Amino acid sequence: MKFNTEIFSQYDKKWALLTAGKPEDFNTMTISWGGLGTLWNKPAATVYVRKSRYTHVFMESEDYFTISFFSETCKPILGVLGSKSGRDIDKIHDSGLTPMAAGESVAFIEAEATLICRKLFVQELEMDRIPKDIRTAFYSDGDAHDMYIGEVVDVRFAAQD
Ligand SMILES: Cc1cc2nc3c(=O)[nH]c(=O)nc-3n(C[C@H](O)[C@H](O)[C@H](O)COP(=O)(O)O)c2cc1C
Repeated sequence: MKFNTEIFSQYDKKWALLTAGKPEDFNTMTISWGGLGTLWNKPAATVYVRKSRYTHVFMESEDYFTISFFSETCKPILGVLGSKSGRDIDKIHDSGLTPMAAGESVAFIEAEATLICRKLFVQELEMDRIPKDIRTAFYSDGDAHDMYIGEVVDVRFAAQD
């Protein structure tokens, strides 16, 4: 059996943009934690969003979100979208990326691949269920992650030349 382990580095090494909202009002941020698998017999994607993120507001209010993967050349852009908040500046305009409607949500023309996800489940990662060393390393400021699991309802690839 040929087991493809490349998927494990998809988020960790390549990063991605998590986007939620409608074309007229949305936000995006860089993520590098997440998962792809199966839940309730559906293809599923999991992401983790701290409550302090502006994107969290949209993840709460919207029923859909997208996860977009880009080529290596876009990594500097993802670096900025992962360090500035859409609360403070129009970082999406500044990024030069081109937003587009994608199903019930928003994605980017420049993405190599986009997962369109329907929100299925949300839960806070409760502190008393996390090992102490992880709590100390990641949550000393109390800014907890919420876990969002979405059904992958569509996968879109960039048009090939
Ligand atoms: C490589 C990278 C990975 C990140 N992964 C996550 C993540 O998985 N979850 C999260 O809550 N924040 C993550 N962040 C931080 C957010 O992208 C960052 O705080 C961003 O500025 C939030 O933007 P917003 O306030 O406009 O939502 C990551 C940042 C970088 C640079």
